[in-house]
Amino acid sequence: MGSMEASTAPENGSSAAGGGAGGTACNGAGAASNGGGMERRLRSSAASASWAAHLPLEVGTRVMCRWRDQKLHPVKVIERRKGSACSSPADYEYYVHYTEFNRRLDEWVKLDQLDLDTVETVVDEKVEDKATSLKMTRHQKRKIDETHVEQGHEELDAASLREHEEFTKVKNIAKIELGRYEIDTWYFSPFPPEYNDCPKLFFCEFCLNFMKRKEQLQRHMKKCDLKHPPGDEIYRSGTLSMFEVDGKKNKVYGQNLCYLAKLFLDHKTLYYDVDLFLFYVLCECDDRGCHMVGYFSKEKHSEESYNLACILTLPPYQRKGYGKFLIAFSYELSKKEGKVGTPERPLSDLGLLSYRGYWTRVLLEILKKHKGNISIKELSDMTAIKADDILSTLQSLDLIQYRKGQHVICADPKVLDRHLKAAGRGGLDVDVSKLIWTPYKEQG
Ligand code: ACO
Ligand code: ZN
Repeated sequence: MGSMEASTAPENGSSAAGGGAGGTACNGAGAASNGGGMERRLRSSAASASWAAHLPLEVGTRVMCRWRDQKLHPVKVIERRKGSACSSPADYEYYVHYTEFNRRLDEWVKLDQLDLDTVETVVDEKVEDKATSLKMTRHQKRKIDETHVEQGHEELDAASLREHEEFTKVKNIAKIELGRYEIDTWYFSPFPPEYNDCPKLFFCEFCLNFMKRKEQLQRHMKKCDLKHPPGDEIYRSGTLSMFEVDGKKNKVYGQNLCYLAKLFLDHKTLYYDVDLFLFYVLCECDDRGCHMVGYFSKEKHSEESYNLACILTLPPYQRKGYGKFLIAFSYELSKKEGKVGTPERPLSDLGLLSYRGYWTRVLLEILKKHKGNISIKELSDMTAIKADDILSTLQSLDLIQYRKGQHVICADPKVLDRHLKAAGRGGLDVDVSKLIWTPYKEQG
């Protein structure tokens, strides 16, 4: 199976694993041992005398916590558990949410990472929740539904939604092993209960079956005869391949992929009913097989013209252009279907960045080359990007004016160049001549 490598992490401090130069994990000892930390530690220990009576801290407490960048950041305590020694209230560990960061950075920390000087009075969460829910407008409620409800749970009321959030608030699986990589997970995923609280799950990188122990995986690898995802290879260019997997024909694979993907997707719908979906799995191929890099799923029939349901690049492969490749691929499929498409909402923070980058690059490159006027409809026909997404992208770049009841695109070449530069690198290119695919047709 080759040697194990730690996963690389995006460098903006918003990723789960590693996080930034050196990728040092944040632990109590590390935080206390740096020069600046010493003074802080003395103050904290003076404070801990007065706070000792309040230990262990209550769930809901807000306090400053030393993160992996060695700086203090505000956190909210989400959960607590007794440490291994568990003899005193100071032995508790706390699961914290960094209020400035995405939930994927939530983690267990030790008491000495917390600056007890900064502890804020605990707000009664139930009272606070009640007040917010009373003040919620219909629109806000719908927004919450859109972002939080899993499929089949549309009828959930606000209380059940909170229960759902409560249930998913702490990551259940901390790490996975997949192929050559050990990967820190980002979010809760609803694995069957017998897998909960396994510190690490071991995935077969080909059939995506998962196991609790390394020895089980080793035994499995001896008898697993897959060397690539099941389904049809619909694209191959150099070492990159794309497989189309029908969720109806490969149910277990589809479900395993959903469990795996949910570890890195927060508010995305989890489809147990994988029959209704096609999965497009991107692989890097070598003489050992085709190794999954990422995927996107697509409804076989979408009434809302969604051409992509969920998209994921596995963390070790992120920021290399695969995300934009997958997005471009989804639009190439839409072009072959003769339809316009849009990704299912809500988009995550990283999803929005990737889509905005893709839309900007594609649209501005056309505008740069095009002589004369061009309408949003024409842009949509050329790119298969839905008109609303074109409008919002161009509006966000301030390239749209509203004149005589019409949207007009104002494309000064210098302005276009400036935006293109800011839009970052293009992704890996999709070579359409290598795509062998026909749109899905129900059989029988
Ligand atoms: N920090 C800052 N910008 C980022 C980051 C990051 N961590 N990750 C991506 N971006 C932006 C950048 O603009 C980047 O372009 P650049 O590298 O040229 O600057 C662009 O997004 C996309 O970069 P890619 O390398 O093409 O994309 P990647 O392979 O990293 O995949 C993806 C992007 C799929 C969103 C990935 O981050 C991921 O899997 N995230 C977890 C799951 C997720 O959030 N999926 C989207 C949910 S929405 C939906 O499914 C419809
Ligand atoms: Zn297998």
